Amino acid sequence: MIVLRSPEKTFRKCVKEKRKGRIVGLVPTMGALHEGHISLIRKCGKICDFLVVSIFVNPTQFGPSEDFKSYPRDFKRDRKICEENGVDLVFYPTAENVYPPGFETFVNLEKLPSHLCGLRRPGHFRGVATVVLKLFNIIQPDVAVFGKKDYQQFRIIKKMVRDLNIPVRIIGAETVRTHKGLAVSSRNWYLSEDEIGRAAFLRKALLLGKKLLLKGESPARAKQEMRKMLFRTGGKIDYISVCDRFTLDEIKRFEKECLIALAVKIGKARLIDNIEVRRKL
Ligand code: PAF
Repeated sequence: MIVLRSPEKTFRKCVKEKRKGRIVGLVPTMGALHEGHISLIRKCGKICDFLVVSIFVNPTQFGPSEDFKSYPRDFKRDRKICEENGVDLVFYPTAENVYPPGFETFVNLEKLPSHLCGLRRPGHFRGVATVVLKLFNIIQPDVAVFGKKDYQQFRIIKKMVRDLNIPVRIIGAETVRTHKGLAVSSRNWYLSEDEIGRAAFLRKALLLGKKLLLKGESPARAKQEMRKMLFRTGGKIDYISVCDRFTLDEIKRFEKECLIALAVKIGKARLIDNIEVRRKL
């Protein structure tokens, strides 16, 4: 496994692999690798010949009062995990490598960021879309894998790729959960044992919402019952949304399919989770 910090060297290496006819796969991460990332790495490894993981805590996707400084960083540990999971190249740039002095070009989507997390985290998806496009330009992947836990991010990247004709296939991977149903996330590291126990109500609320919609209850009623369930986390509910799974627009009536998404602040962690709901015909 090689580790490169320079975007130019990384570009040259990846292009060389592509010229040999190899399929280049990318899993973009901010490090602090956990079971969720490992499942993305393994999934990507199965469909490519040259597996790249990027590790970069991207400053432009954090708001001024967010956890950029305290975001967990442990490169030695991340490197070992990559090595053990068949990664060929780790791209580990410095902030100056990604954002040289005078940087001023950003990618903005018009509508998709104005829902769910985008409403609470202004500028977040502008930072995500910008860094992901830069990673695509540097690594030139044929395929890239993103977790569906960050569902809005997954939709935004898919849209950006389509809108800007970027030649990369975006694959969504299912969320990895603990045995209690809690979605695995770097931000779970901020939770105490007691908070982890209470965070299990996020998944329970999603399953309840799904059950109610499939029974014919309205999205409004489903959200009401989910809110009651989420009170049991003892946290602060940020949002509960029943929406179209492509546009992320709220829906008033459930017909065939939708997404239920939520965000709750428990202690120091802001946790997000979601579930796709489909009526079997
Ligand atoms: O999901 C993440 O870890 C980040 O948002 C990403 C895609 C690596 C961009 O910084």
